[in-house]
Amino acid sequence: MRQLWFDEARFGMFVHFGLYSGAARHEWVQNYERLTAEEYRVYFDHFDPDLFDATALARRAKATGMGYVVLTTKHHDGFCLWDSALTDYTSVAACGRDLVREYVDALRAEGLRVGLYHSLIDWHHPDFTVDWNHPRRDDAIEHERNRERDMGRYRDYLHGQVRELLTQYGDIDYLFFDFTYPEEKDGWAGKGPDDWDGEALLALCRELQPQMLVNDRLGIPADFVTPEQYQPTAPIVVDGVPQVWEACQTINGSWGYHRDNHDQKSAVLLAQMLADSVSMGGNMLLNIGPDGRGSIAPRDEAVLADLGEWMRLHRDAIVGAGHAPFAAPREGVYTRRGDRLYLHLFSWPLGYVHLDGLADRVTYARLLNDGSLLRTSVTDPAQEATLMTPAGESEGTLTVHLPVQRPDVLIPVIELTLAPGD
Ligand code: GLC
Repeated sequence: MRQLWFDEARFGMFVHFGLYSGAARHEWVQNYERLTAEEYRVYFDHFDPDLFDATALARRAKATGMGYVVLTTKHHDGFCLWDSALTDYTSVAACGRDLVREYVDALRAEGLRVGLYHSLIDWHHPDFTVDWNHPRRDDAIEHERNRERDMGRYRDYLHGQVRELLTQYGDIDYLFFDFTYPEEKDGWAGKGPDDWDGEALLALCRELQPQMLVNDRLGIPADFVTPEQYQPTAPIVVDGVPQVWEACQTINGSWGYHRDNHDQKSAVLLAQMLADSVSMGGNMLLNIGPDGRGSIAPRDEAVLADLGEWMRLHRDAIVGAGHAPFAAPREGVYTRRGDRLYLHLFSWPLGYVHLDGLADRVTYARLLNDGSLLRTSVTDPAQEATLMTPAGESEGTLTVHLPVQRPDVLIPVIELTLAPGD
């Protein structure tokens, strides 16, 4: 089962870094602003990641409670962060550094799983045909030029580069291909699995790294599905088969460093999204976009530090945990790990929280942040509400008594020990 470590880890870090980090206005800047190769070249000529510190990145991920990291080896702009023999559009040519090498070494030193992101799209390669997602799509002449372009040659390049990444950097645990868009739009074709020869690429992955997880964005099913920038509302099931899934999320809506975008999610919201994902049997891959010098932006560093402090105390409710088949109360979500059921309280009620169906199933209840006992009781369903006495709860409900003061953590978690046999 190649996804066992992945199911266990639950929380990973996505890192988008490349030429667009210096542009500092979204990783799709070349596309959004219809930049020509010459106009975009300035970011290559001035690529200077003097503060890109793979060890610091790996340590930050680990201290945030993350079990794996996924780095962009090449994004849609085609710029490669490793020493590819197939192009000189690389970090080695731009600044003399193989950033993928630095990254895999640092992750292994910290005991983290190694993930790579690789773009199927390539706006730099001369044989990659212009389509409706391409920066040159507004140029009618490109229809004609497409006739000279040979996607077969691009495919060889793509497969050759994937081979480099999967043979020269030791064991790779995870590969995130990005992405397939087969539909036609605005008079342009899209690109489907045949454009990449997705079957052959997946076979190459299986041959070179049989244990490696591969995502679903080759346009053919593989090991896990990838909801992007939204939260599912239930465990994901396709044709009756439960899916391994990972929600990828940004901190501010942009994957690459975007200096003037302050749409920053709070640490509380991000912790809720993480707990919510695990409650539905999924993972969360949280992105950071290091800045033009390769440094983690202070605002992201601060959010990660807050999440790390929450994970230090609540790790057991996330790592190794998953979906619990109980109906959670309106205040939050459940996760479960073995005989422990965790109630993540997104809102803090007055005095009590009532847990449906758990009356005879819980042997101990405590707050996870400080290990303090929480008293429990069961009310008589026939009890009528009077001025100062609440009505009884329905049969089988367990009532957990809470202090008035909400613990000062991102999300308070109640740990319930389940009676044997449940
Ligand atoms: C999208 C975007 C991209 C980002 C990725 C992350 O497909 O094209 O910029 O890298 O998702 O999931």
